[in-house]
Amino acid sequence: MRAKIHDDTNNGLYKSLLDGNKQFVENTLKADPQYFTNLAQGQSPPVLWIGCADSRVPANQITNMPPGEIFVHRNIANMVVHSDMNMLSVLDYAVNVLKVKHVIVTGHYGCGGIIAAMSNQQFGLIDNWLRHIKDVYRLHAEELDAIADDEKRKDRLVELNVIENVHNLCATSIVQNAWENGQFLGVHGWVYSLSTGIITDMQVSTYDNANMENVFKFK
Ligand code: CO
Repeated sequence: MRAKIHDDTNNGLYKSLLDGNKQFVENTLKADPQYFTNLAQGQSPPVLWIGCADSRVPANQITNMPPGEIFVHRNIANMVVHSDMNMLSVLDYAVNVLKVKHVIVTGHYGCGGIIAAMSNQQFGLIDNWLRHIKDVYRLHAEELDAIADDEKRKDRLVELNVIENVHNLCATSIVQNAWENGQFLGVHGWVYSLSTGIITDMQVSTYDNANMENVFKFK
């Protein structure tokens, strides 16, 4: 059942979150009385997910994965900005402490951040974040400008943004060092469809430095 979200004058929705938690604990313990005791022992997720903050793209639910399996970082339009301390801290911890095996950048069609970045409208502070997406557009302007259909052009920028952010990820000192040290680490790009629920693999999976431009390599 969908909670009523717009009229919350009596704190109905707010209260339903806490009621929902009680329900969750009750249902979970019914299925496995040791569930929380076991999960509290520690985490060793094999995957780091870098996704959009959009409420419709929750990592665990759309991959049918239980808690404990996916380490998650989300921001507007699933960006990997190489000076973002938040992203870098999550990546460093995931790769060097948790030793994840895969990092997945997941974008989604209909992404508000992508659509906003393609427009000429000002949105305030966020324009500085969206600038990174405008940079992706500039890199692929020839291909994008040749797409006459507005929706198809937006969809393609969603895909190209994922592909560029996979590249950004591979170029970080963290991923570079992991590969240099012989650590197994796959970096991948996915796009999720809000209208079908299906994930498309962008086929840009990378496991080593073979295709990395020389300027980004460290010795
Ligand atoms: Co989005």
